[in-house]
Amino acid sequence: MEAKVTEIGPDIFRISIYPPGYPVNFGCFLIRDENPTMVETGFRGMFDLVYGAVRRLIEPARLRYLVIPHFEMDECGSLNQFLAIAPRAEPVCSPLGGIVTVRDFSERPPRVVGNGEKLPLGRKELRFVLTPWVHFWDSMLVYDETDRTLFTSDLFMQPGDHEPMTGEDRAAEIIEFCRFSGLLPSQKHLEAALARIEPLAVDTLACHHGSVLNGDPRRYYRALRENAVGDVVEAPFYEMKMPPNAAY
Ligand SMILES: [Fe+2]
Ligand SMILES: [Fe+2]
Repeated sequence: MEAKVTEIGPDIFRISIYPPGYPVNFGCFLIRDENPTMVETGFRGMFDLVYGAVRRLIEPARLRYLVIPHFEMDECGSLNQFLAIAPRAEPVCSPLGGIVTVRDFSERPPRVVGNGEKLPLGRKELRFVLTPWVHFWDSMLVYDETDRTLFTSDLFMQPGDHEPMTGEDRAAEIIEFCRFSGLLPSQKHLEAALARIEPLAVDTLACHHGSVLNGDPRRYYRALRENAVGDVVEAPFYEMKMPPNAAY
């Protein structure tokens, strides 16, 4: 197994691992700037692979921010391992994330950010968009205003291990996977999140699972509104068991 590294925008690197037997790849993103930042760190068990990829791009001890879009182990399982090798690194999470999980889990106190709050990295600036219940209650997305990239976490997820980036229309796959996985518990919350995302000038959707998506993002916003994928009650994924040889 390897970590594939692709530059998906100016100084934005996708680090992707596709473990055998898993329905999706696991991506995380390194933003190379004066304050180097990761969006997602990956599973604890993937630390060596992700760390090895980060080391090819920057000196890992310089990492400054570790953004946690929501508290789930593919987003932040290796948080404490990264904190241990980067003395100035701070976890960054939503207010709810701070209250219910990250403050307790993290070896270092998090920087808690609110909706619309900005974080300068040097050349780039990040803006946070709180998106509760899309798909966890502590969820937030991150927008790189400088290079018009929205880090979408599990929103717009696609299965399989496709090319790192595509301009092809993946709306049908996204909708099908929402129905299979049941990852979005509330259409109302989803639409409220879309209303926050739609005004942003986005060129690139940096998905944590699946290809990074280029081209007009409004086709994806429209697909999620028109297909009402937010209230799937019976999803096959809820009862899916991983094959015994699945590993990372
Ligand atoms: Fe998730
Ligand atoms: Fe995920």
